[in-house]
Amino acid sequence: MSKTLIVYYSYTNGNTKRIAEMIQKKTGADIIRIDTAEPYKGTYRQISDQGKRECETGFMPDITPSEIDISPYDTVIVGTPTWWYTMAPAVLTFMRITDFSDKTVIPFMTNGGWRGKVIENMTKEANGATVKLPFEVKFDSDGGDILETPMEDIEKWTNDIYGIVI
Ligand SMILES: Cc1cc2nc3c(=O)[nH]c(=O)nc-3n(C[C@H](O)[C@H](O)[C@H](O)COP(=O)(O)O)c2cc1C
Repeated sequence: MSKTLIVYYSYTNGNTKRIAEMIQKKTGADIIRIDTAEPYKGTYRQISDQGKRECETGFMPDITPSEIDISPYDTVIVGTPTWWYTMAPAVLTFMRITDFSDKTVIPFMTNGGWRGKVIENMTKEANGATVKLPFEVKFDSDGGDILETPMEDIEKWTNDIYGIVI
């Protein structure tokens, strides 16, 4: 059995958390939630504007935990909500400071219908890794928690993950 770690960030509704936990249930992998060291503050509008500035400038916030040792793992599954057409800033920090050499990375994202270049950008950040089974999960376009990707597609994907991590 290869060792697998799930690392995810989730902010608005826990959508990304929900998907990360589905994979965890299927695979029994270790799971770590990352967060920004400094919580976002303000109205939804203010946070959205801050997120836009951060995503556009490639800002890398400090995160908790500040370091994740992936050396015991063969496969790292990384999950993010889509923020302004890319990964959330906390996930950019995690991916940038982590050496994925010789690992398998499975990137996934949740979104509200504007997918942007999340998977492409995560693939670029997964330097030295073999990227497998990237997946996009769509929730409703109001930024809510209504899952629109068919459950059977998610089941199939988690089964495929199980197939490569056992
Ligand atoms: C700051 C911010 C920017 C967002 N930008 C996008 C976007 O570019 N495209 C998109 O489809 N959804 C966007 N969304 C919606 C989220 O990606 C979507 O609701 C996601 O499932 C939330 O996941 P979470 O509950 O795990 O945080 C954005 C949400 C926030 C808070």
